[in-house]
Parts: sequence; structure tokens; C-alpha cells
Amino acid sequence: MHSERRRDYLEAIGIELWVARGAQAPTAAPAPAAPVPAPEAAPPAEPDAVAAASWEQLRSEVLHCTRCPLHLTRTQGVVGVGPKRTDWLVIGEAPGAEEDRRGEPFVGAAGQLLDAMLRAIGLDRTRNVYIANVLKSRPPGNRDPKPEEVAACLPYLVRQIALLQPRIMLAVGRIAAQNLLGTDTPLGRLRGRVHYFGELNTPLVVTYHPA
Ligand code: URA
Repeated sequence: MHSERRRDYLEAIGIELWVARGAQAPTAAPAPAAPVPAPEAAPPAEPDAVAAASWEQLRSEVLHCTRCPLHLTRTQGVVGVGPKRTDWLVIGEAPGAEEDRRGEPFVGAAGQLLDAMLRAIGLDRTRNVYIANVLKSRPPGNRDPKPEEVAACLPYLVRQIALLQPRIMLAVGRIAAQNLLGTDTPLGRLRGRVHYFGELNTPLVVTYHPA
């Protein structure tokens, strides 16, 4: 294409023609005005800011989740509690009545025992352990979660694990242990050894539920 015509086309679609300093202009036409420097690209988001946005997105999805019928009976979704940078992740079954009311996992009687057990090994939900459940919504009457409820909800926990990247996970109770390990082996036989979870092969230990 004739270079003058080409320049006109480019100009018409808003593309600025750059000419190397000192180089011959492509045509006899006057050299284009000095190019305006391109606006500086926004600096890449800080990893912390990206993680914070991902957590916020996850929280909002859980709070508005309608993936299973439990959203019809719950008071609110219960995401999790604890620092977002921590080595330890404790995973329970599902919110009970008190957790459903307060929006935080393990705040009822079982939670008080769990806190005491964690405290005994130097862990505290305000400082160095994150606590979540397999289900984010309370099953009515505290019945066991149904497989389809677990299937709908587990992706949230998997996202939490990907964001936290804990160094160790502790599943408390049969429901959490069996669903994380994809087995129906009795809890008693899953205890006492280290399993591994997910793509990162995170060490996973299981124990009885504090309830
Ligand atoms: N039991 C659980 O498994 N999770 C809670 O959050 C509370 C009780």
C-alpha cells in the first residue's frame, strides 16, 4: 500500500505513526509531530491486593450462594475465620445453629472445646490458624450434609485452600475427613497417619470432631 495512503488509514483508525528519530520520513510528507508518550501502564497489582480481592470475591459468592437448597433455610453463609496467611487450616463439617446465627465457624460448645485444644498447641483463630467447614450453610436440624450439598459447596473450600496454601490441614470429624479424602473408610482407620490433599499435596491429618 502506498505509504501516504497507509498513514491516512492508520490515522483514521487512531493509530499513531512512530518514526525512528533521525530516520527518513516514509514519504515526502512532513514528519508527524513528535509522538505523545504512551500513558504509563498501571503497575501490576500487589500480590496481597490480588489475594484480598480473591477473598472478597469468595466471601461475596458464599454469602449470596444459591447452589443448593440450604440457602433457603440458612440465616447466612459461613465462610471461615482466621488470618489469611497461616500454616494451619482446620476443617469441620458444617455450621450449626450458633454458627449460622453469628456467621463464624465453631463458635458453639464444640467450638469452645476446639479453641481450648488449639490453644494447648499454641494456635489461636485470631493469630495463626484458619478455620472453615466443608459446608458453608447450615443443614436444618444439624443433619449430615447430603452428597449433592457437599458437591455444590466443596469448590469454595478448595478455593480457600488454594488461597491460604496451608502447610498442614486438620480435618475434624468423619464428614470432613471422608469428604476431603473421597473415601468412606471409617474415621478410626483414617486417624494416626498423614494423608495428602489436592494438587499441592498438602499434608492432611484427621481426628475426632470436638462435639
Ligand atoms: N461443627 C462443625 O463442624 N463446624 C462448625 O462450624 C461448628 C460445629
